Amino acid sequence: MAETVRFSEARILVVDDEAANVLLLERLLQRWGYDNVVSTTDSSQVVFLLEQERRDLVLLDLTMPHPDGFEVMRMLCESHTGGRRCPVLVLTADVSAATKERALTSGASDFVTKPFDRTEVRLRVRNLLSTHLLQLELERNNALLEQRVRGRTRDLEDARRETLERLALVGEYRDDETHEHAQRVGRMAALLAAQLALPQEDVQLIRRAAPLHDIGKLGVSDAILLKPGRLTSDEFEVMKRHTVIGGRILARSVSAVLQAGEVIARMHHERWDGDGYPDGLAGEAIPLPGRLVAVADVFDALTHKRPYKSAWTAERAAAEIHRVAGTQLDPGVVQAFDRLDPATLLAPIESADVGVGGAW
Ligand SMILES: [Fe+2]
Repeated sequence: MAETVRFSEARILVVDDEAANVLLLERLLQRWGYDNVVSTTDSSQVVFLLEQERRDLVLLDLTMPHPDGFEVMRMLCESHTGGRRCPVLVLTADVSAATKERALTSGASDFVTKPFDRTEVRLRVRNLLSTHLLQLELERNNALLEQRVRGRTRDLEDARRETLERLALVGEYRDDETHEHAQRVGRMAALLAAQLALPQEDVQLIRRAAPLHDIGKLGVSDAILLKPGRLTSDEFEVMKRHTVIGGRILARSVSAVLQAGEVIARMHHERWDGDGYPDGLAGEAIPLPGRLVAVADVFDALTHKRPYKSAWTAERAAAEIHRVAGTQLDPGVVQAFDRLDPATLLAPIESADVGVGGAW
């Protein structure tokens, strides 16, 4: 990042093969208030000197033993690697229009002919420095502004992510003592998506949207949701409504995560063979995020304690998933499931699992 430079602190480099000219310019610059002046009569040192310390202006003679002023400007262009280039004020006795044009097209910022008029040199030095220092200041302010915008954007994304996590918590609050089911399903669905080589952006989207799959349970009464035994067929019909309710809660959002959440909430109980609910879709007619979450939801439900069952081992849960592959679950997703490490799927949720950034 460029630093603010006061006018009197401007760093000037004087390059002329004649020591008398260098001395004269040094004295003049000092008289005009510039204390930070470095000079050389050896033009081969210019690039090195500029690499040693950033300069705000170079006063450059054109006619010098090799390298001449044109060659120096060419070397400066070649060695320039980034940031704002320091302006070059060319001083020469050659007053031909061709030389002036060549100097200006070679990288010179301005041009003064020798013997020079001191007032003209003073004003041109002042003008070039003024423009250069203002541009540096502008770049510095822009960098600060961008830094602030990045910070605010990060805060905003953190707040939105946290809101979604808490929204997912609402869905599982009453029937999951650990409040981690939703996040584990999100993590596993994202791992399945990654196994299927979905783009990273979609993996992130599924990671954030999948925890919302049971948000519709808000609309199911405690008597049904928390019932320890089997549900009657009427109760099960009510329970099934959580897919439709969840879809409605998340519907019509402009957020990509909530749009994915709507699909997942509605589709995560569809079955590969078409016997699922609420729409009875089959095979690939079921959106992929719904099929991913179906596998993740089944695995997580089987491997954790519920009011009506104890926690199964990962092996027993995997056997059950294989048993229903091709009927209840997408066999392609089950193949992806086989490539996952069960220890990762059962690990406690860390904040790092939730991830930062990605599409919203
Ligand atoms: Fe569900």
